[in-house]
Amino acid sequence: MVFDPASIAARDPGGMLRLISLFPRMCTEAWSLASGVSPPPRPRAVVVAGMGGSGIGGDLLRAVLYEEAAPPVVVVKDYRVPGWVGPETLLFACSYSGETEETLAAYQEAAGRGARCVAITSGGSLLRRARERGDPAVVVPPGLPPRAALPYMFLPMVAILAAAGAVRSFDEDAAEAADVAASVAEELAPGRPENPARALADSLVGRLPLIYSATPLLEPAAQRWKDQINENAKTLAAWNTFPELNHNETVGWGLDPDLARRCHVVILRDPREPPRLARRVAITRDLAFCRAAGVDEVWARGRGLLARLCSIIVVGDFVSWYLALLRGVDPTPVPVIDELKRRLAQA
Ligand code: F6R
Repeated sequence: MVFDPASIAARDPGGMLRLISLFPRMCTEAWSLASGVSPPPRPRAVVVAGMGGSGIGGDLLRAVLYEEAAPPVVVVKDYRVPGWVGPETLLFACSYSGETEETLAAYQEAAGRGARCVAITSGGSLLRRARERGDPAVVVPPGLPPRAALPYMFLPMVAILAAAGAVRSFDEDAAEAADVAASVAEELAPGRPENPARALADSLVGRLPLIYSATPLLEPAAQRWKDQINENAKTLAAWNTFPELNHNETVGWGLDPDLARRCHVVILRDPREPPRLARRVAITRDLAFCRAAGVDEVWARGRGLLARLCSIIVVGDFVSWYLALLRGVDPTPVPVIDELKRRLAQA
């Protein structure tokens, strides 16, 4: 398939390519969005309530703060918040549309328990409720598919926690992330020769993509790859992470060669992954993934974890976009999610 401007315009009428290419610029803009929010007191724990494209920002926050002296981060993808949530908890209520019922319910419960709450949204009921309660809100640019607004939904949380004195400054990390993401996006644009995202998407057509992160720190990137393949390319995918998958999923590759031959493994690697994990990846390729239709490795780039995560997320976003076009589907609409929400609203 030729990816020239005319066929891209016809096959991607919602302009998803433009949005995924804007990821680096969104990172820069997102960083300044938080400056309008007066920092809350340093919390004992952080809860991020959000679903789908808005919830993955919470998973990224948890990963980015994992190695830091920071309050624990718990991600809630549910209507309820944990029993310990109270006045010393900071809850980020993240819903791009501001209408996601799970997030609104979690927000209400946390607020009722006296938690400090910050809304991150483009509007809707979430913004209205935050304004009524006097809670701070990060208002992100409207009119995007929520999953395309990831930098806006995620990075302000890091900036707010830094302003609250709960974590160190991430200014340099955020600048590096935007720079590295920009280089990756430029390299993967249609028309670039030797395009690894296009090549990987070619291999994934007709196969079940299994996205494995070589380290738990890249876990949210694996999840994001899966989600983007689901929503942009409208096909099934699964994700897992080392070392956990060595304790269960590796066995599943055993005695079903036909099924294994329909799977394509993508391993997300981190240049800073510990040698024991690298060893596990090598052994597992040998023991199990040799049965797959194919195995590819994608390496994160950059120094800081934020840059490494963003770099590999941008690759996944492009792979999902190429896969959508190769499969002949429009990347932008997600009619099944819309229909589900419509039916739930009626019930
Ligand atoms: C759509 C998408 C979905 C939504 C999810 C929650 O692009 O990615 O996963 O993010 O249905 O909706 P919001 O983000 O509006 O709370």
